[in-house]
Amino acid sequence: MSAQQAKRRIGILISGRGSNMVSLIEATRSGQLDAEVALVLSDVAEAPGLQKAQELGVEARAIVPQRFRTKLTGDDAQRYVDALKEAGVELVCLAGFMRVVKDPLLGAFPSRILNIHPSLLPSFPGLHAQEQAWSYGVKQSGCTVHFVDDTLDGGAIILQRVVPVLDEDTAESLSARILAEEHRLYPVAVGLILSGRYKVAGRRVAAFA
Ligand code: GAR
Repeated sequence: MSAQQAKRRIGILISGRGSNMVSLIEATRSGQLDAEVALVLSDVAEAPGLQKAQELGVEARAIVPQRFRTKLTGDDAQRYVDALKEAGVELVCLAGFMRVVKDPLLGAFPSRILNIHPSLLPSFPGLHAQEQAWSYGVKQSGCTVHFVDDTLDGGAIILQRVVPVLDEDTAESLSARILAEEHRLYPVAVGLILSGRYKVAGRRVAAFA
């Protein structure tokens, strides 16, 4: 094999500021991940993360869906498939992408779409997970990286990290503590999936020793 062998190519889908996207790009640049981010796509034309990606030298553009506000399906999803396939992407990472992904995108990347969520799933799926956890009064929360299926934050769990909820926390301070942990966790989970050193049995995803 050549030392110049092409790097594994990751696509990232965002809807907003893109801080998890930046942490993944940085992980590829630091060598933590032996891969490159080939393409960033957003369903929101003015997502601040698009400009951040471009500033980091990563191709990034919006593909704004024509139908539905909370899911990506049909012709809209096909436009994502076409762009990701054209970029040679093998793994798709949702990073604050605020739509439920449906076919044909799901079927085009079987077990190759990941998501990060700011709670310990299955607790607090959906929007504002950190605020849900804080309001509920749990003493621990955290973040989860999971495979994406066609449910809301319901796919098989790959890795989780626990974050304490402190008595003096606000929803905002808890969100910031969870986000810092997300930035550490997502590159680790992506590295595990790219390595192939895991097995899946039903819903259980286990890393090899
Ligand atoms: C992150 O906290 C991510 O876990 C969450 O949106 C935020 C995006 O921030 N995603 C979800 O809630 C998905 N259900 P970022 O754009 O700075 O990465």
